[in-house]
Amino acid sequence: MRFAYVVLRDFRNYPYLELDIPPGASLFVGPNAQGKTNLLEACYYISSLSSPRAERESDLARWGTGCFSLAARLEDLGSVTTVKIDTAVTPSVRRKLRINDRRVTRRELVALFPCVYFSPDDLYIVKGSSALRRKFLDSILSRQDSVYAKTLQRYNDTVARRNTALKKAGADSSWKSTLESLDELLVNLGSPLLYRRLGLVEELSGYTQSTYKFIANGNCAVAYTSTLGETALDLDEIKAAFRQRLRELGREELARGVTLAGPHRDDLSVSLNGKSFRYFGSQGQQRSVMLALKMAEARCLQRSFGTKPVLLLDDVFSELDSEKKSKVLSLCDFGFQVLMTSTELPKHTGPRFSLFRVENNAAMPWGVGNQS
Ligand SMILES: Nc1ncnc2c1ncn2[C@@H]1O[C@H](COP(=O)(O)OP(=O)(O)OP(=O)(O)O)[C@@H](O)[C@H]1O
Ligand SMILES: [Mg+2]
Repeated sequence: MRFAYVVLRDFRNYPYLELDIPPGASLFVGPNAQGKTNLLEACYYISSLSSPRAERESDLARWGTGCFSLAARLEDLGSVTTVKIDTAVTPSVRRKLRINDRRVTRRELVALFPCVYFSPDDLYIVKGSSALRRKFLDSILSRQDSVYAKTLQRYNDTVARRNTALKKAGADSSWKSTLESLDELLVNLGSPLLYRRLGLVEELSGYTQSTYKFIANGNCAVAYTSTLGETALDLDEIKAAFRQRLRELGREELARGVTLAGPHRDDLSVSLNGKSFRYFGSQGQQRSVMLALKMAEARCLQRSFGTKPVLLLDDVFSELDSEKKSKVLSLCDFGFQVLMTSTELPKHTGPRFSLFRVENNAAMPWGVGNQS
């Protein structure tokens, strides 16, 4: 799938923007604070009805307006689809969604096509806390399957309730039966999450490895590390391991009042020649492996949606040497539409890309880059 045309009305700093977007790679260039990131954010919102960076939906409406609209014409192998999104953010969030002028639900719209968003902050997926790596996996799985998103929410609620029960049960044994029923709920909700994550990481790891080799010519490995220990990709085995682990941790959990094992405590390890990128990767290496993870995300989403995602790469060139920059540009050779932003024109040879100038709440075609 690709964006052929987008319209933004009262989205972030844009009162009104209409833009034809060509296939292949496009680079949006402009000084700071002109709306480059906002434009990519709008594209991401069109595919997922969520923002990769806003805390609240109301942040997306242009200040003083209380509502915003987005529309797009999408093309995929000759077929054209139009999407229209009208969102009011005050007093609460209300949306009108249309695909080809037919009203649709949130679920139908999110199932239409995926985008993959890369921001410089994503570096924290590699070098930050495990919560960000879990979120990376959960965000892919939730877009692939709305049941996963619901199960995750119920699981997190159960962990919170179980933590309360653990704290109470230490002093008051009448809480023990509540705890037992929460244990079973924890296992029944957590096991399918772990099952899906293990499957995803298996798929991600091969793609990450090959893209990292292409971008940075090194050997990276991605593995899921579970607080339940090693488990096979089998739901019943995972459940048995989960119950066993809860039995082992019984005393310690009661003493500490927290749930110590389960998908909410797991991690993703990302390493280069056996050394963790988190502690030993250079800035450029961390950035390259992050890009490789995002490309792997794109491949996984492509398989489950049955269409190529659009890659939205915000400020992607900073801290990459020129060879890696042209490798990033050549990602569009794999048939992806790639929308990128930068404050400067890249000075290196490589594949061609369309250029846009972003300034004063507007984006204008600005020719073609790398005409050599
Ligand atoms: N809801 C909003 N209403 C109006 N303006 C907003 C809103 N949210 C953000 N802005 C403004 O939009 C402007 C552009 O933001 P954006 O993040 O897109 O800049 P950018 O071009 O990516 O800059 P940089 O190169 O620094 O990353 C900023 O000045 C920001 O304050
Ligand atoms: Mg920006």
